[in-house]
Amino acid sequence: MTNNAEWLQRLQAVECRDSSYNAKVDPLVFARAQGSTVWDAEGRSYIDLCAGFGVVALGHNNEVQKRVFASSLNDEALVTHGMGDVYPSIAKIEMLETLAAALPSHLTKGGLALSGGQAVEFAVKTAQIATGAKGFINFHGSYHGLDLGILPLTSRQDFKDPFRGWLPEDRVTELPFSCELSLVRKAIHQQKAAGFGCAAVIIEPIQGRAGIRKNGLDWLAGLADICQQEKVLLIYDEVFTGLGRTGQITFAEMVPCDLLCLGKALGGGLPLSACFGRAEVMDAWPQNEGEGIHTGTFFGHPLSCRLGAETLRTIQRQKLPQRSLELGSKLQVVLREKLQHHPLFSDVRGQGLMVGLELSEPLAGARLMDILRRHGVIALASGDKGQGISITPALNIGEHELFLAVERIAIAMDDLE
Ligand SMILES: Cc1ncc(COP(=O)(O)O)c(C=O)c1O
Repeated sequence: MTNNAEWLQRLQAVECRDSSYNAKVDPLVFARAQGSTVWDAEGRSYIDLCAGFGVVALGHNNEVQKRVFASSLNDEALVTHGMGDVYPSIAKIEMLETLAAALPSHLTKGGLALSGGQAVEFAVKTAQIATGAKGFINFHGSYHGLDLGILPLTSRQDFKDPFRGWLPEDRVTELPFSCELSLVRKAIHQQKAAGFGCAAVIIEPIQGRAGIRKNGLDWLAGLADICQQEKVLLIYDEVFTGLGRTGQITFAEMVPCDLLCLGKALGGGLPLSACFGRAEVMDAWPQNEGEGIHTGTFFGHPLSCRLGAETLRTIQRQKLPQRSLELGSKLQVVLREKLQHHPLFSDVRGQGLMVGLELSEPLAGARLMDILRRHGVIALASGDKGQGISITPALNIGEHELFLAVERIAIAMDDLE
């Protein structure tokens, strides 16, 4: 049997060095998975507190996936398609209708893509088309994807450094995440005075990669007010927070936005993302008369759309946003209880099943992530200095599994030097 290390060696021979984590200790190569359990190439099992960066909201190899895949195998099922902006499939139309019905009534129209970064690209282009302006405001710690066009909006310098000179960074003003709201107004005025104007403010209502950080709803409402007064669009990047993970389908249910980006869980495990917006904003795009000016061959792929629509309906029917909120609150209490006496403990925070454990030393989270593999838990390092781990399991993870994983985290913490 080929072991994890040998698989990784084979990978290194054929894959770009940057594309996969080459763990030096206890390497992990996924071989199979069910629910919130993953097995590696050597048959060892892990409790998955990551769910593929939040992608498998209903768990791995779940009943909805099995049903959709099985029913897609009949003779004439249209499961493969690559017509981007030309002839749409029924599956795409039904996916867009399902999504529109799940979103608050001010977000009525949108478009599909394949990745979170592409959803953000869609929003950034839409904002320029709708306002004619070219400036954007983002927040320190933000992660909006690594595609070249939106890279200036992602905060981390190390992601951008090799590409400087190519990026329109002079069009982006980055503000502290919980800044005085007067700073937002000032930055908008500066962009207007510079001549290129301000198209939009983009924010993750809860920052994921930066270590699960959030502002209060009052702050978000204040931000929305300023955007409205200044005629600047407000974009929520809910690629991670959306679709139930943080207790609702979108923060726009509480504080309306103009454009919303969704991804990760949207395709139920297959690649699918969306940018949705107010009709008057989305209608700034010209009518497609046979050739769109923004498309991609696989946008709206029918199998992703079928699985995505079924997954979204299941999330709603099973009231998983509510479960996520309740279980997440309990998780925070238990994590704090078990870990607060550890010398490296700093904080537990988050909302719903998007919880961050912050440690007091840079890279302590990255070390903990490595140690956790040995204890049969998959959780990812987070924070700009790798100082924490994030816990974003499937929304239907069993309580027993979740709290068993917490026990293992407590034991693994004792191995941290
Ligand atoms: C908030 C947010 N936006 C955008 C992205 C980019 O998504 P993708 O990796 O699918 O391009 C991510 C990915 O982690 C994300 O968390």
